Amino acid sequence: MNSGKKAQLSLYNHQFFAVVLNLAIKNHSGLEVLKFVRTKHAGQRVMVLVESVEELKKDNLDGEKLRKLGATEVMVKPFTLDQLRDVLEGQQTIDDLVKNIAKPTGPTEEMEVKETDANFTKVKIEEFYTGRAILFDVFIQLGKDKYVKILFAGDTFSIERLNRYKNEKGVQFLYFHNTDRKKYIQYCNYLASKIITSVKVSGQAKVKMMKATAEKLIEEVYSVGLKPQAVEESKQLAQNMYQLIENQPDLYQVLREFQEFDPNAYTHSYSVTLFATAIIKQFEWQSKVMIETTALACLLHDVGKVKMPKELVEKRPATMTQAELEIYKKHPEFADQILSNNLMIGQNVRQIILQHHEYFNGTGFPNGLKGNKVLSISNIISLCDDFVHFMIAEKTSPPETLKRILVDSDLVKRYNSLILENFIKVFVDPGKISKNRALPSNSRLVPNKRAAS
Ligand SMILES: [Fe+2]
Ligand SMILES: [Fe+2]
Repeated sequence: MNSGKKAQLSLYNHQFFAVVLNLAIKNHSGLEVLKFVRTKHAGQRVMVLVESVEELKKDNLDGEKLRKLGATEVMVKPFTLDQLRDVLEGQQTIDDLVKNIAKPTGPTEEMEVKETDANFTKVKIEEFYTGRAILFDVFIQLGKDKYVKILFAGDTFSIERLNRYKNEKGVQFLYFHNTDRKKYIQYCNYLASKIITSVKVSGQAKVKMMKATAEKLIEEVYSVGLKPQAVEESKQLAQNMYQLIENQPDLYQVLREFQEFDPNAYTHSYSVTLFATAIIKQFEWQSKVMIETTALACLLHDVGKVKMPKELVEKRPATMTQAELEIYKKHPEFADQILSNNLMIGQNVRQIILQHHEYFNGTGFPNGLKGNKVLSISNIISLCDDFVHFMIAEKTSPPETLKRILVDSDLVKRYNSLILENFIKVFVDPGKISKNRALPSNSRLVPNKRAAS
């Protein structure tokens, strides 16, 4: 409809899954309608459509402001119907998903299928999470392009059955269609948000569950691009991460024992997120927003690599040719380009990601920034990025890996020393950290008292 007044009237009389609101609507402005929805229909999803970013700027608006005014999503024209569908799908809740599970048609006995491996994604059987109702078909692999469907969407989940596959048949991985990955991510994220503050669930189990979510989420982004639903889920994951960092008393112990030697790019982003947010927590200036922003930036920090040739993604810079290295060094800027198309990602996250390979001593890239020109959060990510690569390459425990960095004077210069100091604290029982301990610092984050006097 093309009248704001009519839209409001309709909202009185009907329930909608989502309202798609053109900001340029006539007869009662889009902003008025947005205000109306926020005050009278709190919780209603609203997708706001805008003519262009320039138009928005003219009205002194941007994505963040619109969100504060009640927009769930902001889309800039032109967009295709597919893109609109993606955005709407991203807004489905778990309840919507469960309601829409396709009921099994025909037999639900095991069924052999021939289908290309490229259509499937896998999870370790012990890391597979599902609710009582299976949201999608689940398979085990028999051989190349050959699978058996073992669970059907709509089936009731049985842990006994899964254990039989694991223990009696030695099955290590479960498979599902790439097109169902979104549902899996959404379900894991939802489950994590439910258990994250529970004292009955161990810190280790929480860290593992979030890892399962993050890996599939990053895989989804690498395979289909950064769709609105992935942004939404990344934000949820960042919130879950904050809860973990804030409320898990034995986190230092879990992080000490964290073992991850998988060089896979998806796993990498999660490990960086985990350690970087734990470091932020040690700073006096930390806050909920800061931790969530860091988590989001960490999850997406290497998104620019989707613009690199596939064979370069898993390669380490030390083994690259000069030409390859040049492309690799562009990935922070590629990320910035990708993120600039997304109004739901703030400027601060883009800035952090753009600098995630800059070093405190100016030897980083893309701009060779130095000292406090490098954002502290970016320097934390660059440290964690190096740290995770060392941990995997040398198969050392997290505390050993940190020690290895601390004894190398060339490496130490790359990072603000206050950050390194706070990294040490990540592995120490918080109850045993003396508040007044002061170590020498090369940091300009904290004013140098002697210089000031
Ligand atoms: Fe990177
Ligand atoms: Fe990285």
